[in-house]
Amino acid sequence: MKVDGRLYRTIWLAEDGYSVEVIDQTKLPHAFEIVSLRNVQEAANAISGMTVRGAPLIGAAGAYGLALAMKDDPSDGALDGSHALLLATRPTAVNLAWALDAVAAELRQLTPALRAGAAYRAAARMADADVETCQAIGKHGARLIADAHATNGSSRPVNVLTHCNAGWLATVDWGTALAPIYVAHDAGIPIHVWVDETRPRNQGASLTAWELLQHGVPHTVIADNVGGHLMQHGRVDLCLVGSDRTTATGDVCNKIGTYLKALAAHDNGVPFYACVPSNTIDWSLSDGVQEIPIEQRDGREVSEISGLGLDGKPATVRLTPMGSPVANYAFDVTPARLVTGIVTERGVSAAARAALQQFFPELAGGSVLFAS
Ligand code: MRU
Repeated sequence: MKVDGRLYRTIWLAEDGYSVEVIDQTKLPHAFEIVSLRNVQEAANAISGMTVRGAPLIGAAGAYGLALAMKDDPSDGALDGSHALLLATRPTAVNLAWALDAVAAELRQLTPALRAGAAYRAAARMADADVETCQAIGKHGARLIADAHATNGSSRPVNVLTHCNAGWLATVDWGTALAPIYVAHDAGIPIHVWVDETRPRNQGASLTAWELLQHGVPHTVIADNVGGHLMQHGRVDLCLVGSDRTTATGDVCNKIGTYLKALAAHDNGVPFYACVPSNTIDWSLSDGVQEIPIEQRDGREVSEISGLGLDGKPATVRLTPMGSPVANYAFDVTPARLVTGIVTERGVSAAARAALQQFFPELAGGSVLFAS
């Protein structure tokens, strides 16, 4: 996607041929900065500190992290150690484990001398495949928006509610939940997006709003607890969200607060879709609430808030009383019964095992590196 008229992906190989460059998402929306990752520890820090975030992007960053590790030390020990280091950075998004397992399996077949080159090539292939996948999700999801436009008599913009950031910043390009919005907008369908701010890290207010602004998509940022009210008053035509891990049965794990939006959508008859690349589906799980590990992050993300001070400089202020305990659960699970459909790169599936299996018969029994 374009930033100030220039095309960017979220991750790419630097001109030196080995460093990996990423957009520093902790600085957005107030500054656009590129960071260079030069070794596996820097890649791990970038993932755990959320310089890069979003399930597909942390998968790609993990793959490049292994490449950086192999460039410095291609031994078996370094391969195992860097795989473990990167895997421990964020537990919920399955794309990270998927990417690390796939690249490491490929590298274990090779002699150490061949590993670095092969790892860089595998990471680049994964990044390219992610772009294709997200474009396809955009195409399939845009039909839902076009249908909503037709249903409302084409008389007004389609109102879409989204949570967190599932845009191009969360992937290598295009995004998952925002890809259909970009495709529909580019096709001339009038659209307006309600952007949940997404406490505590405000990925909606800072990242989704910034992306939509860059692309010229009309939008309004709302506090996290507004969506239910809007739905009661017919102001939301459909919800589109991303996912960090979706079970084989269609339970959707996504940023904390997604479940509450799905409940409100269900109560108000608003269609609720999750946009899910096949490598976000964990075919080994059938009960998302019980089985998906939920990341708990630093409590300061809840007790403090950061932004630009009135003097225009970055500032962090405390919100809660000193001494009040805080809890910071980063994700929740929306049960399949609340999910109208799952938008995949192969089309819109019901949120149910049989339907997902039909879309991805070759993955349902195990996993392959790239679906198409
Ligand atoms: O904690 P984050 O910012 O990595 O969480 C991201 C989300 O929850 C996204 O909605 C999810 O990764 C799907 S995005 C393609």
